[in-house]
Amino acid sequence: PPLAAMLNTFDFESVAREVMESQAWGYYSSGGDDEITLRDNHMAFQRVTMRPRILVNVSEIDLTTSFLGVSSALPLYFTATALAKLAHQDGEVAIVKAARKAGVPYMLPTLSSYTLDEMLDARAPGQELFSQLYVNPERSRTQEYVEKLEKNGVRALFVTVDAPQLGRREKDMRNKFTQQGSDVQGDDEAEGEVDRSQGATRAISSFIDPSLNWEDVPWLQSITKMKVLLKGVQCGEDAVQAYKAGLAGCVLSNHGGRQLDTCRSGIEVLPEVMGALQAAGYKKEDFTVFIDGGIRRGADIFKAVALGAAACGIGRPVLYSLASYGEKGIVRMVHMLQDELQMVMRLSGTASIPSITPNHVITRNLADH
Ligand code: FNR
Repeated sequence: PPLAAMLNTFDFESVAREVMESQAWGYYSSGGDDEITLRDNHMAFQRVTMRPRILVNVSEIDLTTSFLGVSSALPLYFTATALAKLAHQDGEVAIVKAARKAGVPYMLPTLSSYTLDEMLDARAPGQELFSQLYVNPERSRTQEYVEKLEKNGVRALFVTVDAPQLGRREKDMRNKFTQQGSDVQGDDEAEGEVDRSQGATRAISSFIDPSLNWEDVPWLQSITKMKVLLKGVQCGEDAVQAYKAGLAGCVLSNHGGRQLDTCRSGIEVLPEVMGALQAAGYKKEDFTVFIDGGIRRGADIFKAVALGAAACGIGRPVLYSLASYGEKGIVRMVHMLQDELQMVMRLSGTASIPSITPNHVITRNLADH
């Protein structure tokens, strides 16, 4: 179907399923074990209901915002997803370009299919990027990588903390992984340490240090001046510990349902985390909370913002729109989310992002509330 026929993020998913190689589809679409969390990630947003206000002047709606010192067209960013070339030959390069056109930040993945230099070269002058970090068992490699990010003006480092072992993703495991041309941190082939016999997931496991723990946080902070955040926080205690450690924020994420199964959707974790941070006396300016996982509608972004998230990350919608229509598919997908968010804001009586409050939603159907 023509791009103009795409009306929502689910439409892109349907097209992607048709056009993608089954191996790539298996890697992108799969979740951990029984995929309970994967399915619930989006469903959980439907347990939050709207509490609109009326007779507010909504002739002009301002969706713009900024987080971590970066301005964005709306409270949205493209989160890191490994191996974008499985979607489209232009891979991460197309995502960098689409992010600029859509006016949102992109978090570069450590396990990219293009090299870091190629991704940085695709950047427009002044375009802001974030970066996701898997800490390598060989710390010097991580340090070099981080130094290079900082030297190139990358704004913030999101350290993935929910993957000391990659989840069992059976759809993916049934595929033999033979990605060509991927650059998983350089010379993996040469070292012969990659087991490609059990799907993409197993092939990238060897790049992640399972010994990483809270005592490594000062080390991470010592090797860079970039803001350091944790990606993959799932409860109030860990968010508070991150705040007390002087980190710049966290992402409430279950890795798109690909890691521990039957854990909660980010939107379900959000009220607990905001409550715990407030009880710990946190200041909003010092610690930024994001969520990702299952964000598929403008209303989902609205609900996350209402409950305290500075912005939402989207993963699969980017990959699926890239696979279906390339760079312009991604841009259209964001414009659709933007239109949806604008409508939800207008119908809720909120003309700007700061005017969206917890009183605009009802959370009583979420766990613990
Ligand atoms: C991911 N995600 C991920 N996260 C990360 O920190 N490092 C990584 O390399 C990857 N790789 C990756 C590959 C694929 C194919 C997917 C789908 C996801 C997780 C990602 O950053 C994010 O948490 C989820 O994708 C968010 O959920 P949605 O938007 O995909 O539902």
